[in-house]
Amino acid sequence: MTAHFLLDGEPIPFVPGQTIKEAAKAAGKYIPHLCWHPDFTAHGSCKLCTVKVGGRFTTSCTAQAAEGQVVENHTPELKEKRKTLLQLLFVEGNHFCPSCEKSGNCGLQATAYEMGMLTPHFDHFYPDRPVDASHPDVLLDFNRCIMCELCVRASRDVDGKSVFALSGRGVTSHLVVNSESGRLADTDFAVTDRAADVCPVGVILKKRVGFAVPIGSREYDARPISDVAAHAHAPAHAPADTAQTKERN
Ligand code: SF4
Ligand code: FES
Repeated sequence: MTAHFLLDGEPIPFVPGQTIKEAAKAAGKYIPHLCWHPDFTAHGSCKLCTVKVGGRFTTSCTAQAAEGQVVENHTPELKEKRKTLLQLLFVEGNHFCPSCEKSGNCGLQATAYEMGMLTPHFDHFYPDRPVDASHPDVLLDFNRCIMCELCVRASRDVDGKSVFALSGRGVTSHLVVNSESGRLADTDFAVTDRAADVCPVGVILKKRVGFAVPIGSREYDARPISDVAAHAHAPAHAPADTAQTKERN
């Protein structure tokens, strides 16, 4: 007999070793997330995937599914907390969605819409984050980084290069490039690297293809992220921009 837990009252099957997030995704249920990606081990840093298990808050991307668990996901309380986390991310970076090259394909923007975020609420920090356009094929716009470390993990664990790292603590945390000069051009980063395709927001951008798909015709322009996530069955390593969006849901 298959083991089950209850997600918002609905039985969700799981196999031993699966997390709540993985089992929910396999069942076509959307749990908001930013640092989780199906190709990488869970990181547990963004906290967007927080659910309540037996009345206690826990990150569903790291919590193992267990028989008989009672898990709350879509509740007004959790939606409000997730919205606050998103608002903090928006003010800690510099996010100007209408002019962003990733608008409509951005996990942060789409999740904010999903959570009903209408304003950033908090005062902006406006951190000083210069862009790095030194690389011939890739632009880095650090202003939009949400510190999910997907690029860090992809470059280190898949590409074997460790091009990226986080530096600083707390609100001073920021993404850095591992080269003496700090410039991407002075690393062995390549546009074909896994790390070039993994950013959920608009930091790691391929040059000369920016608006190939116009804003208004992109993944989350057409459907909310919860709907995209529920129907996402993309292959494990999809190179195209649209497939990347599906893959991380
Ligand atoms: S650059 Fe993108 S993938 Fe890397 S940590 Fe920032 S948001 Fe995450
Ligand atoms: S998705 Fe679980 S903590 Fe980020």
